Order: sequence, then structure tokens, then C-alpha cells
Amino acid sequence: MYKRTHTCGELRKTQLGETINLNGWVNTVRLHGQVVFVDLRDRYGKTQIVFDADSFSGDFEAVKKLSMEDVLSVKGIVRDRAESAINPNMKTGEIEIAVSDYMMLNEAAPLPFVLSDRGNAEENLRLKYRYLELRMEELQNNMMIRHKTYQAVRGYLSDLDFMEIETPFLMKSTPEGARDYLVPSRIHQGKFYALPQSPQIYKQILMIANYDRYFQIVKCFRDEDLRADRQPEFTQIDIEMSFIDEEDIFEKMEGMTCSVFKSVRNVDLPSTFPRLTWDEAMETYGSDKPDLRYGMELQDVKEFTDVSEFNAFKSAEKVKGIVVNGGAKYSRKNIDGFTDFVKKYKAKGLAWMKGENGALIGGISKFFSEELQQSMCDKLNISDGDILFMIGDESSITLNALGHLRVEIAKAEELTDKDIFKPVWITEFPMFEYDKDADRFIAMHHPFTAPREEDIELLDSDPSNTLSRGYDLTMNGYEIAGGSIRIHQQKVQEKVFSLLGLSREEAIEKFGFLVEALTYGAPPHGGIAFGFDRLVMLLAGTGNIRDVIAFPKTTSATSLMDESPSNVSTEQLDDLGIQLKDLDE
Ligand code: AMO
Repeated sequence: MYKRTHTCGELRKTQLGETINLNGWVNTVRLHGQVVFVDLRDRYGKTQIVFDADSFSGDFEAVKKLSMEDVLSVKGIVRDRAESAINPNMKTGEIEIAVSDYMMLNEAAPLPFVLSDRGNAEENLRLKYRYLELRMEELQNNMMIRHKTYQAVRGYLSDLDFMEIETPFLMKSTPEGARDYLVPSRIHQGKFYALPQSPQIYKQILMIANYDRYFQIVKCFRDEDLRADRQPEFTQIDIEMSFIDEEDIFEKMEGMTCSVFKSVRNVDLPSTFPRLTWDEAMETYGSDKPDLRYGMELQDVKEFTDVSEFNAFKSAEKVKGIVVNGGAKYSRKNIDGFTDFVKKYKAKGLAWMKGENGALIGGISKFFSEELQQSMCDKLNISDGDILFMIGDESSITLNALGHLRVEIAKAEELTDKDIFKPVWITEFPMFEYDKDADRFIAMHHPFTAPREEDIELLDSDPSNTLSRGYDLTMNGYEIAGGSIRIHQQKVQEKVFSLLGLSREEAIEKFGFLVEALTYGAPPHGGIAFGFDRLVMLLAGTGNIRDVIAFPKTTSATSLMDESPSNVSTEQLDDLGIQLKDLDE
């Protein structure tokens, strides 16, 4: 091999006439009679190298057989390109290399898909040959964005005295939230470790242990149903601080987010982020992770439907609508499509009316008097050419279904510019959600989240109306971070456990070490965790979490490249004292 003197993205006119060595992969081969042009590629870019039968002393027939992804080592001279051959889209586009000699370092087998055409290769095939897909420019860029994000986060936090401390991956199973991934113990047969869903308990214990500004960029493991923005193993920027309140967290995390966006994307975010209470977010956007890049806010229409002759909404708990500018263009078929869409979110149907000549037409408009139509157009801001969609149902169904419709229409109308970033804090979450199936409360954040000071009494009298000191940071419709001020008093913690249906004994059995630690001088503390992969998704402008993880899993939690999960030998199972049930049963 000729040791490389330069990378494939480096050479410019300043090196004209120099003899250089390049190593890399064959990106493209073009035969022009007795001249062969090859774009040689490495991590840094591409350089055009030229084999000319007249001046090349080696085996020219072999050169003609070069194929994509062969690995070459090339010696040659940097020369000017003819004016007409200059490629302004290539960093090295003004020069080319006249090859004097080369070595084939490794021939590539025929490729399972064309590397330059990512969109046309099936995702499962790309995941099986992930090492080939990772060579593509798009993924190389994403990995670089990810790398820069790690560095920006570490630099920012370290400058503010945060200490990076690792916490164990093999820990006690503390099920609450998603299912745990379990790891059987060989030494203690019949016992299991769990992989952490997050380092929540450890970071709180670190506060009790006097490490008052902690962070960690850490893998978390959750056995849950996967979606485009979820992976079974994903990364968090995990943070915890002592002697602080919400304002300290908001200020530091706004600073960190701004610093990351500036250094990775050169984007200036506002120095403070807007805030919405959970209730406001649900009422206005039908979502606790609202996308603020566009309007189309949910508006109350019950006052109008109640006085109309349209009876179906009269008994509905909540009737809300959204106005889509220009939506009068929607055909019956479009509207039927949206109706099927909202039915997925349990809405019974989707009512509509279109704005025309200052009044409303079509759909359920005949049930609304002329006067009522006019007052709706004024108050709801419906212009000619718009459409009003309405849902009336139980409050949670109306908000959720309309919230999803808002997002669906924004996508269809291309209102989601990937280069605009709209962060917003969501605060004042309810402490609990009621799980009808299990007939008990579950924690909306997690069981260690503190109730608001003024709501502590409600834990006894009216738990379902208790608000928490939890907060999420959302951006462009994604929850990118979540956290809370924690309970640091053992009594309150025990009360919350009991509301979650955990007896004192069960709580001690599951979280005993934390409950005990709370009695030994726990400072007031709180924290947050960013979904690192989601942050990188936004920075990279992709909606698919697999695009920003080097070796991701499929939505059925498999790795197609190494074929995990896989069977293990009987000896391995014997070592662990495990016998498999007959899986066919
Ligand atoms: P939470 O469960 O909200 O909080 O997680 C924090 C953030 O992690 C991201 N996230 C995920 N990303 C990819 N795949 C997943 N399966 C996945 N699940 C969550 C989200 C989310 O906002 N210990 C608490 C934090 C705290 O209270 O400090 C926690 O883990 O972006």
C-alpha cells in the first residue's frame, strides 16, 4: 500500500504538480475509450483520478475492470482540470490525479444494492448490510452531526461544573414504565439483573452522595413497542442537580440546547424558550408535544354547535375544530380519508364546513343559520376557501383525534419546514393517569416526581387533580427531553408509592435502597434527560431514528446485520440454570 499523503477531500489547486498518494473506495467508474475516470472516496470526500492508457505503464485492461467499492491505493500527480471539466459541486472539483501506479487493496464483491441510491434500496436490505449503508454520504453526515452533538454537550456541561459519572448497566429490576430487559445471573441462578430503562435511581442517589451536578451520555434499554422515533436501546443525556428549582433546570437546559444548535447547525434558537402548561398544550394543540411551526390551533366550537340544529354534538363533552387555510380544495375523497384517520383515534366521525362568500357551505352547514355561520366565520377566522373540521366527543378523544389530524394535515400541506426549530417547555403535568384496565393510578412521569408544593394536600383528598413538578422539552412535535423536581422527603415518597398501588413492603422490595437513602440527608434535587437520538434526528433533519444510530434495530427489535436476538446453546442455558418452555405450546 502507498501510505496516504492526503485524504480524498483535501487536494486543491495549491498542490498542482505534487506527487501524492490516496487510499479509498471506488465510488464511480467511467470509461471514455482509452481513458478511465474513477471517483475515489473516503470519509473526507471524493477525488477524480484518471488512468490514461497513453501514459499509464501498468495493466490497463485491469483498470477497465475496476468496480464500485473496490479498495485502491493510488500514486499520481495533481493536475488542473480543463475549464469545462471543473465540478463546482465537489470540494476537489478543480483538480484531478493523473495516476502513475495503483494497487488493488481489496476487490469488492457485486453489491447487494446501489450505494448512491439509498431511497431505492429496501430498508431491511440496507440494515443487513449496514456497513455498506454507513459508507453513504447521508449517513456519514448524520454520524458527524451525532459526534459534534456529543462534543458540544460534554463541553457545555463540563464548563458548568457538571461531572460525567457512569452508572451500572447491570442493575436491579424496578419495573415501572416500560418492560425491563432482563439478564440472567450465572453465579446466582434463578436471579436476574435488569438493563436500566434510565439511570433515574442512581442519579438521585448521586445527589444524596453530594455530586450536585451530574451528567452522563448513556444507553437506556426499554422493551416497548417501537415507532419511528423509538428504539429498544437508545441514548440519553442524563442530568441531575441539587439545591435547585425548575428555573435553574430551564436556564441551563436552554443554554445547552442553544449551544448545541449553534455549534452543530449554526442555528440561533431564542435564548429563553416559550412555556405552555400541559392543559394549555392539550387544549390548543391536542398534544403534549405540540408542533409550533404552524398555527391551525384547536378552537372551541361548542358554543356554536350547541345553538345550531346539529344534534349529534349536543351531548358531547367537548367540541373543537381546526380551520385549514385553503382547505376548501379538499374533495369528498380527501375528507373521507381524514375521517378514517381520526377514527383510528376513537373519534366517531369528522364534521366539516367550507368557507364561501362569507358564509359556510357543504358538510353540516345546513344545520347552522346564516347568522350563526357569519358569527363563526368572524370568531373562528374562517375565510373563503378555508375548511373547518370539527370533532365532538369525550374531552380526551376530541383533543387527541383533532391534535393528530392537525399534524397529519400539516404534513400533507408541507407546513413542516425542517430548518425551522420551535422549542417549547410543557409544565404542570397531572401527577397521575388512571389506568382503567389495572384499576389504579400510574405515574405520568415516574414515581419519584414531586407534586407541586400547593398540591401536596390533594394527594390525600383528590389525587387525580394533583399537578406535578414535571416538565418536558418539546420541539417540532417531538418530546426531546423530560424530567422533574424530585421528591426528597421520604414521607411524600411513601405516599406516592401507596397511591401507585405499592404497599410499603412492595416499595421497600423494589426501591428500598432509594427510600432508605432519602432518610440520610437528601438535598432538594431535580433533573432531566434528553433523548439524544431524537435531538440528533432534529439536527440531521430526518424523521427516522434509525438514520442517526450506527447500528439500529428494526421496529421488531431485531438487528438484521448480526441476527440478534438469536438462539443460544443448551450449555449456555444450563450454566444459567434456565430451561426453555416449549415455545410451540
Ligand atoms: P423519559 O422516559 O421521559 O424520562 O425519557 C427521556 C427522553 O428520552 C427519550 N426516549 C426515547 N428515545 C428513543 N427511544 C425510546 N424508546 C425512548 N424513550 C424515551 C425521549 C424522552 O423525552 N429518567 C427520566 C428523566 C428524568 O426524570 O430526569 C426519563 O428517562 O426524548
